[in-house]
Amino acid sequence: MTTGLQVIFIEDDELVRRASVQTLQLAGFDVTGHGSVESAARAIDASFPGVIVSDIRLPGASGLDLLAQCRERAPEVPVILVTGHGDISMAVQAMRDGAYDFIEKPFASERLIEAVRRALERRALVLENQALRRELAGQSRIIGRSPAIEQVRRLIANVAPTDASVLINGDTGAGKELIARSLHEMSPRRDKPFIAVNCGALPEQMFESEMFGYEAGAFTGAQKRRIGKLEHASGGTLFLDEIESMPLSLQVKLLRVLQDGVLERLGSNQPVRANLRVVAAAKGDMNEHVADGTFRRDLLYRLNVVTITLPPLNERREDIVPLFEHFLLDAAVRYERPAPLITDRQRADLMQRDWPGNVRELRNAADRMVLGILDDGGAASLDISTQSLKERTEQFERAVIAEALEHCGGAVAVAADRLQLGKATLYEKIKRYGIVVKGDSSER
Ligand SMILES: Nc1ncnc2c1ncn2[C@@H]1O[C@H](COP(=O)(O)OP(=O)(O)OP(=O)(O)O)[C@@H](O)[C@H]1O
Ligand SMILES: [Mg+2]
Repeated sequence: MTTGLQVIFIEDDELVRRASVQTLQLAGFDVTGHGSVESAARAIDASFPGVIVSDIRLPGASGLDLLAQCRERAPEVPVILVTGHGDISMAVQAMRDGAYDFIEKPFASERLIEAVRRALERRALVLENQALRRELAGQSRIIGRSPAIEQVRRLIANVAPTDASVLINGDTGAGKELIARSLHEMSPRRDKPFIAVNCGALPEQMFESEMFGYEAGAFTGAQKRRIGKLEHASGGTLFLDEIESMPLSLQVKLLRVLQDGVLERLGSNQPVRANLRVVAAAKGDMNEHVADGTFRRDLLYRLNVVTITLPPLNERREDIVPLFEHFLLDAAVRYERPAPLITDRQRADLMQRDWPGNVRELRNAADRMVLGILDDGGAASLDISTQSLKERTEQFERAVIAEALEHCGGAVAVAADRLQLGKATLYEKIKRYGIVVKGDSSER
């Protein structure tokens, strides 16, 4: 039996409608009867979890009108049309227009039950596929094979379908926003807005009007009513980024909205309902902010029903190479360039390097590589962004010396001459840079 699925039955003849609804109910279906397309229309949208059975000839909009509407608004919802005896040309037309099945009047109970059962099976399959695809889409965007990332994926799968508040903790560029978006995409709120608010970016005054919105005339410059982010996010997900930098005065106001589920626009005392799911992101330890008095403990308790911690990339080095390779492909597609292959040496270098900018820094390095901003010099080439002038100059110097030595067959005296350096100085640099001189025959 297809649990959770529904049947809408549309028929203007009350006797036929009642009898059919009863037949379907006795067969175990969850059925609602309607006398017209208009009356049923409200219940039908793309996410309607069921099938529709409708008579073709109805007083207002016909079954064919309904079919056209469904193809438009709810293309995956199967529609079974019921035709009058001898209306076979109409039935053929209906099938052509995308009806799932048709039943000719008068019909036996078994025929109706069988048609509905098949259509519901089809609907269940489509819904299941959609859920699976969504899950894959949400999950697969999070790359990584470290135990830490595996754990994050599990947590997301568990809490995304709930309304529990989630606090995401992690360093800059670690992937906090990506996690927040995944939580939204894998939640039942996915078709409603995901509203991101940077709590550190706006001055206090503006922050309040941004968040709560205002009525016309609420303050100088408020010409038209404006809906705030909290109201926009209602039904969807509110992402509070850099929550640690939210001013205390606003923390109180936010807490009140979360507790009461209502808010007031500035300049209004009409409460508006706000059905919010809150995901917050913070750098550093929020308990420290509570301890030093810059963050309210009660608000923190509201926000961190579930905490997802994203360790810095340096603590999950297994993720580096898969992430980098993913970003190379991604950049190649974005810039319409070929995706470079990385050598074992580059792989080893990527793994060993420090990534203070975390995943974002890695992503930028992949972008540069695809754009060919760096030559394929291996290890060193990836380093340019984080190198100082001194480091880069030294690297250049080392390359020039090595090249000169190569040219002179390893004769340091000759190379020193060419480079217009004293022999002692050149020896000192060779030593400092650890250059291996092949076949040096000159004396020291
Ligand atoms: N595990 C991951 N898999 C795939 N992409 C990732 C992953 N983690 C981060 N990214 C990508 O790295 C970039 C930075 O991630 P994101 O913006 O989510 O970080 P953040 O923690 O919000 O950074 P900040 O603290 O600077 O706001 C984004 O392009 C994001 O898509
Ligand atoms: Mg971010």
